[in-house]
Amino acid sequence: MDYGLKDKIALVVGGGGGSGRLTSVLLSQEGAKVVVADVNEEAAIETVNMIQSEGGEATAIKLDVLNEGDMIKAVNLCEKKYGGLHFGINIVGTSTDFVDITQVPTENFDRMFNIGVRSAYYGMKYQIPAIMRSGGGAVTTMGSNGGLVAEARMGLYSACKHAVVGMTKSAAIDFAQKGVRVNCVCPGPMNSVGFLKKAEQEPEFAERMLAKIPLKRMIDYKEIAGTLVFLCSSGASAITGEIFECSGGMLLRA
Ligand SMILES: NC(=O)c1ccc[n+]([C@@H]2O[C@H](COP(=O)([O-])OP(=O)(O)OC[C@H]3O[C@@H](n4cnc5c(N)ncnc54)[C@H](O)[C@@H]3O)[C@@H](O)[C@H]2O)c1
Repeated sequence: MDYGLKDKIALVVGGGGGSGRLTSVLLSQEGAKVVVADVNEEAAIETVNMIQSEGGEATAIKLDVLNEGDMIKAVNLCEKKYGGLHFGINIVGTSTDFVDITQVPTENFDRMFNIGVRSAYYGMKYQIPAIMRSGGGAVTTMGSNGGLVAEARMGLYSACKHAVVGMTKSAAIDFAQKGVRVNCVCPGPMNSVGFLKKAEQEPEFAERMLAKIPLKRMIDYKEIAGTLVFLCSSGASAITGEIFECSGGMLLRA
């Protein structure tokens, strides 16, 4: 299938690792020019090196999602260096304290909302106008199955991800007539460093999670990357406001 991504311009926020890195590489393999933004600049450069070693076109930029100016600079870079922006992919989110809401330190509330929700807000705020200036495209946010249903001791995380889901749906309506599709990918438990560490510390936690997944396995970064790239592609041209669960069927059972 031709994904229709040749010579399109993508900004991947959180492109220095995990699913963000694989998304950046996959977008480049489909012919897109990629700006890889990450708070870990070395990691972003590493992603760019991977892309360039395959003959792709990419640039790294340091971006902290807590800093509005960094998002503005990254979008400007897309426009100045590559002539526009078609796809904004916003990977960066929160991890949870795994405690009930009475035990969440107030400073964690602010930090998690800032990283988990402000990142989606800055992404939409600056990427959408640039995408409109370029003639249209798509913005994708990162939710979680925790943004769709409740899980014990995940109140703050769940609140952040529900907020991202709500913001995504509303923006999808606002920009549907303006050439910008807005969708959200909601992964189930991924083979991430954070999740694997938690599973090692608390094996019964991992077992409880796996028991809920009909596929009976964790979700791989490349599966999230594939979904993110599909949502940019011409194959997804009728899809907006969708909350794409990528969790091996985790939420199928009541
Ligand atoms: N890991 C899971 O099991 C899981 C499950 C459901 C949803 N999610 C969501 O998926 C997304 C990615 O999760 P992950 O575990 O792969 O992420 P991760 O921790 O591997 O981070 C991805 C990238 O974001 C960068 N980053 C971190 N803080 C940043 C900041 N302040 N500014 C800019 N870049 C920053 C990191 O350097 C890294 O390269 C998050 O939104 C997360 O909430 C994860």
